[in-house]
Amino acid sequence: MRSSGVLKILAFLITCVIIIICYQILLTTSFFNHIDSKIPQADPVPLGKGVGNVKVILENEPQGTATAKKNEPVHEINVVITFTNAKDNTNLQQKFQTTVLSMFKWTTTPVNIYIIGDQASQVIADAILKQAVSKYNKQYKLVKLDTDDLAKKLHEVIKEMQQHFSYKPGAYYSHSLFFLSIAIHRVMPETLHRVIMMDADLKFNNDVKELFDLFDNFSDTNVMGIARENQPVYRHVLSVYRGANPGTRVGDPPPNGITGFNSGVLLLNLDKMRKSELYNSLINPKVVNDLTKKYSFQGHLGDQDFFTLLSLEHENLFYILPCTWNRQLCIWWRDKGYESVFDLYFKCEGHINIYHGNGNTDIPKLDWEK
Ligand SMILES: *[C@@H]1O[C@H](CO)[C@@H](O)[C@H](O)[C@H]1NC(C)=O
Repeated sequence: MRSSGVLKILAFLITCVIIIICYQILLTTSFFNHIDSKIPQADPVPLGKGVGNVKVILENEPQGTATAKKNEPVHEINVVITFTNAKDNTNLQQKFQTTVLSMFKWTTTPVNIYIIGDQASQVIADAILKQAVSKYNKQYKLVKLDTDDLAKKLHEVIKEMQQHFSYKPGAYYSHSLFFLSIAIHRVMPETLHRVIMMDADLKFNNDVKELFDLFDNFSDTNVMGIARENQPVYRHVLSVYRGANPGTRVGDPPPNGITGFNSGVLLLNLDKMRKSELYNSLINPKVVNDLTKKYSFQGHLGDQDFFTLLSLEHENLFYILPCTWNRQLCIWWRDKGYESVFDLYFKCEGHINIYHGNGNTDIPKLDWEK
């Protein structure tokens, strides 16, 4: 009896030792490491109110995130926001606040925010973001950019082209920032793969992650996603060409026209922009010159003019973002001789995910704000 009791205890101890050894082996093998790497990395800075969430990185070498592959879980979303000349402009500051507050309200994914603007505007953006995030318990990082350096690099790429798309030929190089989206793949580090770029006069009514997921809806030839212009702006800009080419789709309304674009919300696949021989061959003063002549095109709306011009001959570079993700509210063109066709351009059915108060238009109060 006594010896069988000792044996039982021995067997028990041996079993324990084996279990401990097995556990140690499992811990040190890639099995657990693999599982760990699937868990989104927590921000080392504790979540909570205000300042604690802000992680200011770097001056001019933004860190990319590995979000390039299809069907990989997205842990972070890179959002580039144009916010410039904000000092002494409380109206613009308020719009920026609305944009980021509403984005924070809905987002299910941490966002990295890149501010494109002068130094003073960046400081203001920082303060607004800190205040905004204290309202919603969301994670974000503010990536500081040396926009002066960025503007100089951009200027080199686009200086000979921007005269076709802006009122100020030969403008100071900081104006080249309004064309960042065109050549963003050449001036941002290669570690950056996909970004959402947007204006600062938006109101989100849905999760930015759902917008990001539309990158997966691109066809092989699409390098960026962009919504149609919601007014007959390009019908007007292209009226000479349209007059000389009856029946053309150029400047026609959706769904069959080549309507022209609004760049308030952009999905930029930087990898595809880098790789596309076609796209890069079009960032060329001679090509742009020839196209503007052919279509008698003189714009003043910056990057969206450029994309519109390219789309007249290369529609398949662009994924057409549903209007619900850039619902423009400006109606300036309604009574400028386009009454009979205005609604063909303006109508947008379905749940509105992003309102765009372009042309300084007020955005309505939404249900969740009441
Ligand atoms: C994007 O693709 C998904 C999957 O194919 C589809 O369910 C969804 O309707 C598409 N979204 C849009 C806006 O086309």
